[in-house]
Amino acid sequence: MRFFVTCARGTEGALRRELVVQRIHAPRGATGGVSFDGTLEDGMKVCLWSRVAMRVLLEVGSFPAFDADTLYAGARAADLHRFFGGKTTLAVTATTHENPELHHSGFAALKVKDAVVDALRDRMGHRPDVDVKNPDVSLVLHLRGRDARLFVDLAGEPLHRRSYRVAMADAPLKESLAAAVLALGGVGAERPFVDPMTGTGTLAIEHALASRNIAPGLRRGFGFERWADQSHLPVFTRLKQAAQDARLAKAPCPILARDVLTSAIPSARRNAQAAGVAEDILFEVADVATLASRDPPGTICMNPPYGERLPGPDPEQPLDELYATIAHVLDRMRGWSAVILCGNPLLARAIRRKHEISHRLWNGPLEARLLVYRL
Ligand SMILES: C[S@@+](CC[C@H](N)C(=O)[O-])C[C@H]1O[C@@H](n2cnc3c(N)ncnc32)[C@H](O)[C@@H]1O
Repeated sequence: MRFFVTCARGTEGALRRELVVQRIHAPRGATGGVSFDGTLEDGMKVCLWSRVAMRVLLEVGSFPAFDADTLYAGARAADLHRFFGGKTTLAVTATTHENPELHHSGFAALKVKDAVVDALRDRMGHRPDVDVKNPDVSLVLHLRGRDARLFVDLAGEPLHRRSYRVAMADAPLKESLAAAVLALGGVGAERPFVDPMTGTGTLAIEHALASRNIAPGLRRGFGFERWADQSHLPVFTRLKQAAQDARLAKAPCPILARDVLTSAIPSARRNAQAAGVAEDILFEVADVATLASRDPPGTICMNPPYGERLPGPDPEQPLDELYATIAHVLDRMRGWSAVILCGNPLLARAIRRKHEISHRLWNGPLEARLLVYRL
């Protein structure tokens, strides 16, 4: 079986490393994702364990698509019977690049939907229903030039939805991007961890989950649990049991999550409770300016505001003042590492230090930089 695992642009290296740790054979990088050949068990394992992946796509068809007719014919020939039964619902999404006849992704998705529905009607005697919000089976078409690839999405809901985000605050990071920041920044469980601008707590929660070796998919469901053919589910039950047994009782080192905004901390705490790691994180309302070094040194990891309006108690505070404050704080954290996800080049300039790593990645459509300093 051939899989394509999607992730945020710039995080492919972190995803490849995760797959190798999960004993996936020879994952190959591509922009926005990683491919591998393996078993359905491998695909389910990636759904359960990957912190960085967004979707795990199983290829079910690969064919040339010059126009609407060839796209229809190719999709109609795909063998999808194991996924669909009497009441299975479906949805189709598509991306298209550089195909002159099929440049509208909504149209391409509609053609694939028609083809699949017609093929299933011929086979099963009735048409499956479309449910765009909560389908049992999600089909994904990637059209690049005239090469069409049709996939079934194993995850269903994207994998960054770990089901612990029960409370919101300003500008939260996607869970998978936070996990990539920790992985690419080399943040380990064996040193204390501080996020002084924690917002909804994503970096601290992801760090706590990783430190306790908690599989990020343990608390959520997956698309493959809703397929008509359920013969793979005993294997998944075994994978889940092994993941449960692999959890550590507590994080090996202290984790501190602070924010100046009084309303952010209860949200972050509720999210940590939903993730099952509230006991591992100490939450405090505090200004980043008051952060003091402590022994032993650890990692300071943060995602400071970078927009026009500052999330925080004083939206009018100039960004350069806040960045100068962060630079002063780093000056007194000798022996620590700093891992900073930063969407504004002014911050790197304010820090006035040589970074050890500067890595480009994308927070949705926004280009950001991951900066790592040894202080
Ligand atoms: C981009 S958000 C962080 C989002 C967070 N990574 C998440 O996933 O939810 C920046 C955070 O910095 C906080 N902040 C702004 N000024 C601060 C200051 N002076 N001290 C501490 N936190 C501050 C804001 O309240 C906001 O929660």
